[in-house]
Amino acid sequence: MVELRSAMGVVSELPCHVACVMDGNGRWAAQRSLPRTAGHEAAEAAVMDIIEEARSAGIRWLSLYAFSTENWRRPAGEVDILMRLVRRAVRKHAPALHARGVRCRFLGMSDPRIPPALVRDITDLMTLTSDNRQMTLTVAFDHGGRRDIVEAARSLIRADVPAEQVTEATFARHLPYSDTPDVDLVIRTSGEQRISNFMLWQVAYAEWVFPQVLWPDFRATHLWECLDAYRSRQRRFGDVRQSTAATGEEPR
Ligand code: IPE
Ligand code: IPE
Ligand code: MG
Repeated sequence: MVELRSAMGVVSELPCHVACVMDGNGRWAAQRSLPRTAGHEAAEAAVMDIIEEARSAGIRWLSLYAFSTENWRRPAGEVDILMRLVRRAVRKHAPALHARGVRCRFLGMSDPRIPPALVRDITDLMTLTSDNRQMTLTVAFDHGGRRDIVEAARSLIRADVPAEQVTEATFARHLPYSDTPDVDLVIRTSGEQRISNFMLWQVAYAEWVFPQVLWPDFRATHLWECLDAYRSRQRRFGDVRQSTAATGEEPR
């Protein structure tokens, strides 16, 4: 449980791990008769606003879905501009992210089509911020939940783990960034209501909210609306007893 404290004492309970499917950039641009890539460009302000709001609110884990394994199907020109925009953002915001104590990780990142210069800048950012502990920001980039599960299976086989010793806990230890806690709250903007291959293992018991707002317009006030919705949910984890509210702790 993470508590938000003020001079008045504990004022609210926050999810430990919030994950965002940042959707709607293309529609944001279309509404303005702009090319889709203008929406990706405008998304940067939302990303930085949400990182800072989440960090200052005391959310310890924030994950952002930036590029899926399926997004490679998009026109080459759009993919190319996306890669350039991500590189520009990584270089521009690295000092501020580090100064604010944000540990940055990139989940996925295995496709050889990712430009080497981008891989270098991302590696530098991860190294620079690796000792930070205020908040862990996981950017899911060239990410697919199914691929992570297949990779975990391969890793278990390579480690010669006997079948009867494969439990949910041992399996989870073979996932990338296995220290990441389960997701408590997923926010998918733009009104779309699907998972799109996002952190499939980790969202097993997440609460979901689907605000209509398109990602480039998503700001701190929208985040707080989502956090309010989360607080009103009863989490039962399959049990029938009164939920343990928004703490993410399973009933014992
Ligand atoms: C999300 O916005 C960004 C990425 C998937 C990279 P979209 O580009 O999917 O925007 P819509 O869904 O077409 O509006
Ligand atoms: C999911 O959005 C991936 C990201 C937000 C990075 P998409 O827009 O690619 O998902 P679909 O195609 O609508 O499911
Ligand atoms: Mg989309």
